[in-house]
Amino acid sequence: MYNFTFEIPTRIHFGQGQLKRLRELKESGSEVLLVYGGGSIKRSGLYDDVLKILREAGLGVFELSGVEPNPRIESVRKGVRLCRENGIDMVLAVGGGSVIDCAKVTAAGAKYDGDAWDLVIDPSKITAALPVYAVLTIAATGSEMDSFAVISDLSRNEKWGTGSPLFTPKMSILDPSYTFSVSRRQTAAGTADIMSHTFENYFTTEEGFLQARFCEAVLKTCIHYGPVALKDPENYEARANLMWASSWAINGTLNAGCGVNWCVHPMEHELSAFYDITHGQGLAILTPHWMEYVLSADTVDKFAEYGVNVWDLDPKADKWLNAREAIERTRRFFKDALEIPMTLREVGITTQEKFEIMAEKAAAGCEGCYVPLKKEDIVKIYQAAF
Ligand code: NZQ
Ligand code: ZN
Repeated sequence: MYNFTFEIPTRIHFGQGQLKRLRELKESGSEVLLVYGGGSIKRSGLYDDVLKILREAGLGVFELSGVEPNPRIESVRKGVRLCRENGIDMVLAVGGGSVIDCAKVTAAGAKYDGDAWDLVIDPSKITAALPVYAVLTIAATGSEMDSFAVISDLSRNEKWGTGSPLFTPKMSILDPSYTFSVSRRQTAAGTADIMSHTFENYFTTEEGFLQARFCEAVLKTCIHYGPVALKDPENYEARANLMWASSWAINGTLNAGCGVNWCVHPMEHELSAFYDITHGQGLAILTPHWMEYVLSADTVDKFAEYGVNVWDLDPKADKWLNAREAIERTRRFFKDALEIPMTLREVGITTQEKFEIMAEKAAAGCEGCYVPLKKEDIVKIYQAAF
């Protein structure tokens, strides 16, 4: 295990009725930029509840609405202008990963003397940020408790992750009942995203025994509760377990001390950058093909271990059989239990014409990963997933 420093500065208020904790925002000043998406929080009534609590607490509220899934740099720029014009003290995201990511870069953009896109392509330029707060409404990205943000400039087919400790929310409210209204499609995509974050941490060059067991627990939680949430959207235990799994998959616990470099995410981000597809669906499509592609004499033990510890396969069976069966179970879980479309064609990528350019861009992120991948390897994985 490598040396590490571990610190998560996010105060989590988990459970029903925690929204009243929004009063704590007073600790950061008086003017709030409320950031939200395309309207789900208005339909659910959460918007009204948030405004009521903020106003009762004497906070001034300005709004950035309409943040897109796969949030655009244009929304961030709008948010930055609102912060500058209105003397905003803090940014409150109410929504999913897209809204929280937009809020994070807005918070840093407000303190940056230049265009916010600079902060997306060069995290070293993030030197100050307004405090970020979040009310999470979908279990998926873990943005509620991590230091990352992913922003797109679709005019240039660019989607990049950036990060800074300054992005880590100061406080996040995780009320699982807010996720009751998440659609089947988004529930499935979110579950696949949580699993993918965990796979990225699990298949490592330098493993920690304890960290691997944490990963297996998160995976088993998703496998158990993802289908329950699909069948019974208002099942509190299912929503609660998925929500907490979302935060833990990416908050640093699973990779502290390990040699982790993500691989499927860079490949998926190119799909979203060029075709604006749903992140979790793209990951579910690519993951089994990536697993098959990197399965070799060097990796078979790890895949067999995954099969035994996560899918309860027989530890005495042949390791190659177990490894292949584990990959097949992963594919079937996404397809049959979560009902995710499992080819690129089904999500609207109907030609292979961009595979080369997408693979070239993704390759930069896949160099030092579990099994390093070059452009040619990534093209083959896209083709297999087509
Ligand atoms: O926009 P609204 O109307 O709110 O609707 C959203 C959106 O259409 C809807 N939704 C959210 N909560 C809901 C709800 N609908 C009904 N009831 C609710 N309670 O769900 C749709 C998707 O929302 P979005 O925020 O886009 O989903 P998600 O949380 O999956 O975020 C995806 C984005 O996060 C990035 C992805 O690349 C993508 O851009 N990621 C961010 C990461 C991070 N910050 O650490 C890591 C991830 O790997 C990922 O890359
Ligand atoms: Zn993800």
